[in-house]
Amino acid sequence: MHNDIKKILVSEDRILEIVKRLGELISKDFEGKRPMFIGLLKGCNPFMSDLLKNVSIDCTLEYMIVSSYKGTDSTGTVTIKNDIPEVMDRDVILVDDILDTGRTLNAVKKILLEHGAKSVTICVLLDKPEGRKVEIKPAYVGGLVPNEFVVGYGLDYNESYRNLPYIGVLKEKVYSK
Ligand code: IMP
Ligand code: MG
Repeated sequence: MHNDIKKILVSEDRILEIVKRLGELISKDFEGKRPMFIGLLKGCNPFMSDLLKNVSIDCTLEYMIVSSYKGTDSTGTVTIKNDIPEVMDRDVILVDDILDTGRTLNAVKKILLEHGAKSVTICVLLDKPEGRKVEIKPAYVGGLVPNEFVVGYGLDYNESYRNLPYIGVLKEKVYSK
């Protein structure tokens, strides 16, 4: 285990089981359709890669670069840094690492619907229900986490720890550096 990690919340094996289940579920629910997966970078990266390996239906893949965080605090403003994919009449599956306040996915979903998406379905690896500030209902959730800042498997603290293969909680000393 990495020296800055206090405890592991979701192990590597468990993550892969969860992701397999989500991929199979989506494949069943979207059978006969051709959904467009849109991942929110950078956090969605490992999750999206593993998820798509478990999706067996025809689909397309796009990414959006979105940020709303500085350190561990939600800034409340969501910035989109690249062109919005062509979503007209498409069934979109929005993929992100974690749902916290809900502001990011809420804002992106609204924009995609304004750009003509037929439907926008939300898929997150983790949900932190206690952090919610706006109402949003994810269709696919890998697991729930308590109101703690978590890192690993795409999730960062000041851009570090995205490369950890598991999800864990940082030691306090890391924040006070
Ligand atoms: P929301 O807009 O507050 O729902 O935040 C969603 C985004 O905040 C996610 O895409 C993450 O990048 C980031 N985030 C929220 N909670 C955590 C956390 O515990 N660790 C790392 N990133 C987080
Ligand atoms: Mg993110």
